Amino acid sequence: MEMEYVRLGRTGLKVSRIGLGAWQFSEAWGPVSREAAVKVVEKALERGINFFDTAMVYGAGLSEYLLGYALREADAPRDDVVVSTKIPGEFLNPIDIPRALEKSLKNLGFTHVDVLLAHWPPCWSNYPVCVYARAMERLVHLGKVSHLGLSDHPVELIDKFRECLAREDVEVVQVKYNLVERWAEEEIIPYAELHDITVQAWSPIAKGALTGKYEPGSYEFHDVRRGNAVFHPDNYGRVWGIVKLLRDIGEKYGKKPVQVALNWLIAGSPVVVPIPGARKPEQVDDLAGAVGWRLRYEDWVALHEATKNLVIQYSVNYVNTDPEQRLAETEARER
Ligand SMILES: NC(=O)c1ccc[n+]([C@@H]2O[C@H](COP(=O)([O-])OP(=O)(O)OC[C@H]3O[C@@H](n4cnc5c(N)ncnc54)[C@H](OP(=O)(O)O)[C@@H]3O)[C@@H](O)[C@H]2O)c1
Repeated sequence: MEMEYVRLGRTGLKVSRIGLGAWQFSEAWGPVSREAAVKVVEKALERGINFFDTAMVYGAGLSEYLLGYALREADAPRDDVVVSTKIPGEFLNPIDIPRALEKSLKNLGFTHVDVLLAHWPPCWSNYPVCVYARAMERLVHLGKVSHLGLSDHPVELIDKFRECLAREDVEVVQVKYNLVERWAEEEIIPYAELHDITVQAWSPIAKGALTGKYEPGSYEFHDVRRGNAVFHPDNYGRVWGIVKLLRDIGEKYGKKPVQVALNWLIAGSPVVVPIPGARKPEQVDDLAGAVGWRLRYEDWVALHEATKNLVIQYSVNYVNTDPEQRLAETEARER
C-alpha cells in the first residue's frame, strides 16, 4: 500500500498522512533499547513514514536521544524527515525556552528542529501567552526552529498565541483524538480546518485499546497504562463493543481493527495526521497500512454512529477509591 502525503499546515513541507510517535522510546512503555528503536524507525522509513514526534519529557530526553540515534543509524537524510518536539509548560519563559531547545537539539543530534511545540499551557507557572509566543518565534528567526505548534492548548489560547506572533504562525496543533475519545471534534479540529493547521492526533489508537489484542479482563498493565481510564472496566466494556465493530468492518477490506480505527480518523478530516506509537516493527507495518485506501461512506458512518455518544468517564479511578480502605492499608504499612 502506497504512503500518502499532505502539506504540513501552510508550510512547504510534505509529511506522511500517518506519523510515528516516539514516546514509546522511553521507560514509560517498558524496557527500551537502541536496537529496538532502530528497528522501529527503519521500518517506518521503509514504509514511507517521514513524520516523527517526540518531546523533552519523554523519558527525560531518552526518546529524543533514541529517535535521533535511530534516524542516523538508518541513514535518513536530515532533510527527508520532519521531526516535532515539545517544550514542557513549566519551561515556557524566555530564559528556559532557548535552554530547553538546546537540550533537545543535543539529545536529537540536530542543528535545528522542524516543528517546536509548547507541550501544554503553563497552567501552574503564570507565564503570559505572548511572552512564550515571542520567545518561541525568536528561535525561528535564529534558524533553530523551522515551524511552531501548540499541544493540548484550547482554541482561545491558540488564537491568542497566533495574535502574539509577528511573522510566523501556528502550523501544527497536537490533541488527543481517537474513535472513543472524540472531544477534539468540538472545537480544535474545526478551528484547524478553517485555518489550515495540521492536527497531530495523539493516542490515536487509545494506547492500544482499539487494536483488539486486549480482551476484557485479560490485561494488567505495568506501564503508563496502569490506571488509564479507557482500560477501566467501567469504560472498557463499551470500548470492546467498538473493537468488535472495527473487526467486522475490517474483514470486508482485509484490514485489522487498528487500521480501520486510524483510517476513520484521516477519512473524517483532511488536516488530521495520527501519530501512533509502536514498540515493534511489525506494529509499524500495521500502522503504515492504515493509509493508502479509504473506508466506504457507510462504514465510516456506522463507526461514527456507534461512537458519537460513547462517553469515557475519567473520574472512574477516584470515584471507586475508598478512603477508609486506603487509610487501613497505610496504617497497616506503618505498623
Ligand atoms: N501531546 C501530548 O500531550 C501527547 C500525549 C501522549 C502521546 N503523545 C504522542 O502521541 C504518540 C502516540 O500516542 P500514545 O503513546 O498515547 O499511544 P497510541 O499511539 O494510542 O498507542 C500506542 C501503543 O499501541 C500499541 N500498538 C501500536 N501499534 C500496534 C499494532 N499494530 N497492533 C497492536 N498494538 C499496537 C503499542 O503498545 P503495546 O504493544 O504495549 O500494547 C503502542 O505502544 C506518542 O508516542 C507521543 O509521540 C502526545
